[in-house]
Amino acid sequence: MSNLAPETNKRRTFAIISHPDAGKTTLTEKLLLYGGAIRLAGSVKARKAQKHAVSDWMEIEKQRGISVTSSVLQFDYDGYRVNILDTPGHQDFSEDTYRTLMAADSAVMLIDVAKGVEEQTKKLFQVCKQRGIPVFTFVNKLDRYGRNPFELMEEIENILGIRAFPMNWPIGIDGNYSGIYVRKEAKIELFERGGVHGQWALPSTQGSVDDPAFKEILGADIHQALCDDIALLDAAGEEFDFDKVARGELTPMFFGSAMTNFGVRLFLEDFLELAPPPMPRVSSEGLINPSDDNFSAFVFKIQANMNPAHRDRLAFMRICSGKFERGMTVYHAQSGKPVKLAQPQQFLAQERTIIDEAYPGDIVGLFDPGIFGIGDTLCQEGFNFKFQDFPVFPPEQFARVQAKDTMKRKQFVKGMTQLTQEGAVQVFRQPDYGVESFIIGVVGSLQFEVLEYRLKHEYGVDILMNRLPYSVARWLSGENIDVKSMKNMDSGLFVQDIKDRPVALISNEWQLRWVMERNPDIEFLVVPEDA
Ligand code: G4P
Repeated sequence: MSNLAPETNKRRTFAIISHPDAGKTTLTEKLLLYGGAIRLAGSVKARKAQKHAVSDWMEIEKQRGISVTSSVLQFDYDGYRVNILDTPGHQDFSEDTYRTLMAADSAVMLIDVAKGVEEQTKKLFQVCKQRGIPVFTFVNKLDRYGRNPFELMEEIENILGIRAFPMNWPIGIDGNYSGIYVRKEAKIELFERGGVHGQWALPSTQGSVDDPAFKEILGADIHQALCDDIALLDAAGEEFDFDKVARGELTPMFFGSAMTNFGVRLFLEDFLELAPPPMPRVSSEGLINPSDDNFSAFVFKIQANMNPAHRDRLAFMRICSGKFERGMTVYHAQSGKPVKLAQPQQFLAQERTIIDEAYPGDIVGLFDPGIFGIGDTLCQEGFNFKFQDFPVFPPEQFARVQAKDTMKRKQFVKGMTQLTQEGAVQVFRQPDYGVESFIIGVVGSLQFEVLEYRLKHEYGVDILMNRLPYSVARWLSGENIDVKSMKNMDSGLFVQDIKDRPVALISNEWQLRWVMERNPDIEFLVVPEDA
């Protein structure tokens, strides 16, 4: 066995996916607190407080000189090395959020007990599903009004297409829960109501479900309802099948309250035990095993430094195999050149520390002299393989952009080309339109603002941007497609992606269905065929 195995096996690298306000910041803080990183926990909240207008976001980047939108929070707990990939919240929603999931080995799906599965959670879940990584569910805010747990299980199954296995179960009538029942231990844990908002922990009482005292505390009806629920779950529910969890077909479901800490430690401990360590990754040379002694990593995010005085960029790499050592020289597969990894950084919220070594599952930030692209492979010298390409994520918002001053056309094209390589936006061209204007597609509107800001500050180009009335892009596939003779495309637009593949931009899903029906010989793909 490789001598890397002990380090690799203790790593858990995951992202928390949720809709804004479900409690991700709060849960992240609580996990950090358990990991003893108390000072850092405050900074997660502080970061969130600073997260509003895009201009402020740029300002933060400037002041700190580092990326605040992409970092990894690392701590040790009970023999595990935990890496929480920090996916940005609501306003920051963009392709970066999706790409971060490419670096995760599992995900925690956080759901508000009153709201159930929300929009952004659905989108993020789809990416996890495509990757086939295990998803763990934490149903949050149990201290408040909440929906029926069976109903939530059904919603997860119907909307997301994954079965849920409750690891614990809320006690009480819907909307008024008083604690949880821990299935594997047949144990009850109750919290006391009336805790101060945001306090560290609610006092709780624990014991066996058979302890007659609980009948008294809960009242005979609620105790009986709990016993009935448990009997139903045991009899009719899904079996706990670890392989199904690993394949992303079953989600272990936990209930708790991040704010009051209720159920959080229990969740953390079960999660760390069940979540996978770093897994093999597909490459052009077959599977690359984390226990392989040869170093390999891929770049999953590039963040330009917003400080004009330091035009550097940061590339975040996820280590896949071997041991990383500061100053090592690696082979950059895409450029075919060796690169010395001299100033590796690890990001702990606001802090950044130079790191000397890191292992599979770890995330390291590198200063990028402008050579790295999203999905690029770095590997030990003497090896030459590439990890699988990153998927293209379907853009949902579109705009036409051009330089305000036509004299700046050259810088404009240069900026657009570089920012596209970096993955900041997706670019489309309208045939016969030349390079005077581009059509750009993004997942979240923050990307538009970042593009505008960066073209101005890094390339000295002011742009004109007109939003376009489309929300769906489909790559067209079929024999000899003649876009001009396609039916019902009067309100749509034909464009080409950077590889000259034909793409139809359509106003909405309803319109798309109509176009698809009228053009049965054409396939409408969500992502390009060879992506
Ligand atoms: P996010 O990062 O997912 O957007 O959510 P965040 O943690 O900021 O939580 C959103 C709101 O939900 C916050 O309230 C937070 O205190 C609250 N919250 C999080 N977990 C729980 C929980 O378990 N129970 C209850 N009752 N509330 C919870 P806020 O009023 O917006 O902010 P704050 O005043 O608490 O800072």
